[in-house]
Amino acid sequence: MSEPNRSEPTLVIRGGIVIDATGERRADVVVANGRIQEVGEGLVVPTGATVLDAGGCVVSPGLVDLHTHLREPGHEEAETIETGTRAASLGGYTAVVAMPNTNPPLDSADAVRNVVELARTATAQVAVAGAITVGRAGQRLAPMAELAALGVRLFTDDGAGVQSAGLMRRALEYARDLGATLAQHCEDGSLACDGAMHEGAWSSRLGIPGMPALAEEVMVARDIALARVTGSRIHFLHLSTAPSIELVRQAKAAGLPVTAEVAPHHFSLTDACAAGYDPVFKVNPPLRPQCDVDAVKAGLADGTVDAIATDHAPHAPEFKDLPFDLAPPGVLGLQTALSLAITELDLPLTRILALLSWQPAAIAGLDPSNGGGQGGVITPGAESNLCVIDPTATWTVDPMTLASRSRNTPYAGRTLTGRVRHTVFKGEPVVIDGEAQR
Ligand code: DOR
Repeated sequence: MSEPNRSEPTLVIRGGIVIDATGERRADVVVANGRIQEVGEGLVVPTGATVLDAGGCVVSPGLVDLHTHLREPGHEEAETIETGTRAASLGGYTAVVAMPNTNPPLDSADAVRNVVELARTATAQVAVAGAITVGRAGQRLAPMAELAALGVRLFTDDGAGVQSAGLMRRALEYARDLGATLAQHCEDGSLACDGAMHEGAWSSRLGIPGMPALAEEVMVARDIALARVTGSRIHFLHLSTAPSIELVRQAKAAGLPVTAEVAPHHFSLTDACAAGYDPVFKVNPPLRPQCDVDAVKAGLADGTVDAIATDHAPHAPEFKDLPFDLAPPGVLGLQTALSLAITELDLPLTRILALLSWQPAAIAGLDPSNGGGQGGVITPGAESNLCVIDPTATWTVDPMTLASRSRNTPYAGRTLTGRVRHTVFKGEPVVIDGEAQR
């Protein structure tokens, strides 16, 4: 018998190990009205409720991606909000931060409202990142206050770094007063020039123009100095070199409000992958030598790096399949990130989930302490954004079966460990047994 005034449960996740920021325990999770109603062992399954088996699996807060290129509007041949969020759901994500390098870019209230409207029926929350500068051109600040009033909490010109230190300083001051965070794509254009891969032994051997690691590092150093002066939060996107990680380590030790993410390709691939000139291995920042991969992993292990973010960057074959130096940079990431973390990192699953769920949720301002429903503790009353992971299942990446509209994964044929079994968004099972439900 249900108690009076209690909604009938619609969903029960049964027999799993619940892991969240408070630790782990064996428990069933009962969902009603999009919220968690009960968490406990051996709960009675109400008739009529959908039962998701979680035997041998982990039940986690849904994953949160700080760095997704959904391509809509403007490049729907590569991805749409619908296909991108379906890929997100299949990858265990219940929220993604949509990057503003669309066409038109997300630098105005109208552009942001349009994406919010298009995402209304998506299978994951789409949090819009606004551009820092008009047209992402690095000349004039975008109307940040107007965008913040629409709920934008992260600003970035991703795809390009803000080259002017003076403009970046002003942007940091505005962001601080708006309670927002600036996210920097660290790339000094005067050093990066037309580099198409990491500048080093492999670029020399292959005759591909190189981009020095320094192009990233000088901007990390500059922006740490700006964060010190302004007291503003800054988040470093897709860091990829050992000195960048070390700079963040020192900034954190000095108590500065900096956070950092790394992408799975920067802990699982090296610049040697470019040896066959296959543009699927072209990404920005570029793949780096093993010493940088090791530093990225060390940063993840010691807490210097706060989040694993996909930099999911779909490109249609007619644009991506060009000679290496002409191809656009970017790889798919949403459906492989969790498995790559489990496969490649020597970290307990709880730490991996912190890096993929509750820590990025807090950086994006989507967690319960910011009034959001992502990455929170799995407890009665919380919003039901969850994923169920089989940590020991193995699978082989087949580009043709990915949900993205594009096929540019560098992991084709790779067998990975760890698989998303179910994803629940606002109480609705959007993935059941690895199958998208819509
Ligand atoms: O590889 C990348 N692709 N890096 C970026 O910064 C931009 C992204 C894209 O939009 O394709």
